[in-house]
Amino acid sequence: MKAVVYERYGPPAVLRLAEVDTPVPKDDEVLVKVHAVSLNASDWEVLRGKPLYARIGGPFRPRHRVLGSDIAGRVAAVGGAATLFRPGEDVFADILAHMGGFAEYVCVPQSVLAPLPAGMTHEQAAALPQAGAIALQGIRDKGQVRPGQKVLINGAGGGSGMYAVQLAKLDGAEVTGVDNAEKLEFMRSLGADHVIDYTREDFTRAGRTYDLILDVAAHRPAWAYKGSLRPGGRYQYVGGSVPTLLQVLLLGPVIGRPQHKKIRLLAVRLGVQHLAPLVELCQAGKITPVIDRRYELVQVPEALQYLGEGHTKGKVIVNVG
Ligand SMILES: NC(=O)c1ccc[n+]([C@@H]2O[C@H](COP(=O)([O-])OP(=O)(O)OC[C@H]3O[C@@H](n4cnc5c(N)ncnc54)[C@H](OP(=O)(O)O)[C@@H]3O)[C@@H](O)[C@H]2O)c1
Repeated sequence: MKAVVYERYGPPAVLRLAEVDTPVPKDDEVLVKVHAVSLNASDWEVLRGKPLYARIGGPFRPRHRVLGSDIAGRVAAVGGAATLFRPGEDVFADILAHMGGFAEYVCVPQSVLAPLPAGMTHEQAAALPQAGAIALQGIRDKGQVRPGQKVLINGAGGGSGMYAVQLAKLDGAEVTGVDNAEKLEFMRSLGADHVIDYTREDFTRAGRTYDLILDVAAHRPAWAYKGSLRPGGRYQYVGGSVPTLLQVLLLGPVIGRPQHKKIRLLAVRLGVQHLAPLVELCQAGKITPVIDRRYELVQVPEALQYLGEGHTKGKVIVNVG
């Protein structure tokens, strides 16, 4: 089968399309013929080995030869003890712990798979897992957004931001989206009430305060966020720089305590089994998985370059075969 492989951390040029053995499912595994896979910032990070947390499990060389974690496809074969799915069934999954989606076939434990949601295409389902989980847990489960609250989403024009803006609006919040100038119109089209170009304005210095800040691109010192939170407000680190992450983990609980502000890491529970509420909203047409661009398997380096250069509005999809 064909797969996009790499042996060392680096730019998209280290990736190449190769002929590799088609994997054989172990007892509890399912062989999936990949139809669509969506790109995440995590693919870009693990490709380059930056930030440092992207090297967990592979400090010097990539842990996985094939990237790609959000897949949708069709069951091609099942292992001896795998009873949940049958060949021919359409499925989708988040396989961040295993990777291997940039390939014609991938073997995954049956427990991580779910049936393709009724009425959704492979592309739409592949656009959901990681970005959807971040948004759902950031806005609803942990964020607990209520009508009338002010919510700021930093990195709102990317994959998880695209869902987060729509969810927060649906839940009645007044939403501010922060991203680069190229994405201001896009954030407005998702429903953002206010937009900020982060290259021109630092939202932590503007004197405005929020009940919730969801940060998928955190690069400031942890204490910089405190002044932008209302009393009782919550800041959630999703992704960004390692120093910010460490400060949030070590100092976050102390920094906000006097005014009951919470500065925390959002540790996302990944897996499509947690996505049901978002899937239902998509099926009802209340949330739209916005697909910015589509590429073919051979174009994965180009697709990752596009994402890494920061042009992506919503999700980028690779159609396989
Ligand atoms: N906490 C967890 O448990 C967990 C789980 C899974 C993934 N993650 C992390 O979550 C993040 C996922 O993000 P995603 O998939 O939504 O990424 P994405 O699609 O790349 O979106 C990130 C957005 O942030 C923008 N951005 C970059 N720098 C910014 C800045 N300084 N201020 C404001 N916006 C900025 C980017 O635009 P430009 O770059 O174009 O300017 C882009 O639009 C990744 O870092 C991943 O590692 C965390």
